[in-house]
Amino acid sequence: MGQMEQGRRFETAFTMDTSSIKYGPGVTREVGQDMRQLGARRVMVVTDPRLAYSEPVEVTLAALREQGIDAVLFDQVRVEPTDLSFKEAIRFATEGRFDGFVAVGGGSSIDTMKAANLYSTYPADFLAYVNPPIGEGRPVPGPLKPMVAIPTTAGTGSETTGVAIFDLTELHAKTGIRHRALRPNLGILDPENTRTMPRMVAACSGLDVLSHALESFTALPYHRRPAPERPELRPAYQGANPISDIWAAQAIRMVSAHIVQAVEDPSDDEARSQMLLAAAYAGIGFGNAGVHLPHGMSYPVSGMVRDYVAEGYPPDHPLVPHGMSVILNAPAVFRWTAPADPARHLQAAELMGVDVRGAAPEDAGPILADALIRIMQRLGIPNGLGGIGYTPDDIDALVAGTLPQRAVIELSPRPVTSDDLRAIFLDAMRYW
Ligand SMILES: [Fe+2]
Repeated sequence: MGQMEQGRRFETAFTMDTSSIKYGPGVTREVGQDMRQLGARRVMVVTDPRLAYSEPVEVTLAALREQGIDAVLFDQVRVEPTDLSFKEAIRFATEGRFDGFVAVGGGSSIDTMKAANLYSTYPADFLAYVNPPIGEGRPVPGPLKPMVAIPTTAGTGSETTGVAIFDLTELHAKTGIRHRALRPNLGILDPENTRTMPRMVAACSGLDVLSHALESFTALPYHRRPAPERPELRPAYQGANPISDIWAAQAIRMVSAHIVQAVEDPSDDEARSQMLLAAAYAGIGFGNAGVHLPHGMSYPVSGMVRDYVAEGYPPDHPLVPHGMSVILNAPAVFRWTAPADPARHLQAAELMGVDVRGAAPEDAGPILADALIRIMQRLGIPNGLGGIGYTPDDIDALVAGTLPQRAVIELSPRPVTSDDLRAIFLDAMRYW
């Protein structure tokens, strides 16, 4: 394909951005020095109520205070945050006049930190920076205050990305803010912090990692995306490219080799460490390439939850864990996207450890889907969207909730229509 197609100009460039990463058992204790080096003297420490008195939070507060940093704890992050919970953190950040931020927790805490930093630094109407079409998608005006992310789950990869996801309460829709400036300066990957994850949290966050890697690996290649009008409008999610492929491929290998062991035996330091690294690798990949349909379709799946409560998650509100809402769509999506690039889908299955010798191009989708389904069964994930309470009657609403996720659905390697989404959701209702 040339650079022009029906008068449209295609992208010719891609970028590779990531956070600094520090990895090692016990490195949380260095966060005081890290924040000092970044110039912070008064730091908001962001976490959720379940972790408020946990070891990772206590170690973080002590390490900051040891360096003479004024550390103030905000422990009201909502797991699967909403605009309302973001606003509470933003108010706290604005009133606290902080010059630095540390998040300790899962993606919810890290994303909440990003929003608190953004809106307290560059105050604006809440929808100003939110992705279109729900928000205005206004670019972040300048650099943010220093941010350090300390993940306690091996999941979102939020420590390496410029993305903050939340639920817009009034629309029951997940959306987000995406901008390079939201990327934390440093991600501290300390395997000691992921030792106490409940089993289902480990399973769902690990499957989120796997899907990040598979989605960025199979996403529309960057040079098939329309060129931006100006370089600063080049999206953070650019499509698959030669650098993101390397990180995604390695993450697929690492997760597939270690996820079951890491979930079943949290005392296995090697498996747990590999999962934490894989989450960051996948984050580097998808933070540049993007994700596509499994994530785009996941937002209504979690946003429209009726009464599902997952073991190991806060029981006070119905919730479909992010990783679960993603992986429940993934096999049906890959069955459908494989014809766009069968070789790449087969390569993904091979990276998962499947013997694909002799496979025909039309086998690519089923082979990749089956590899995922086997892991889902092994980890006790519900059997399709039906397993968390959805029926075919919900499909129109699920499709309507997916269509606004334009930036990610446009990265599908195969252009998708409402009818296609309907067929994919139907296929995702039940897998075995
Ligand atoms: Fe995700």
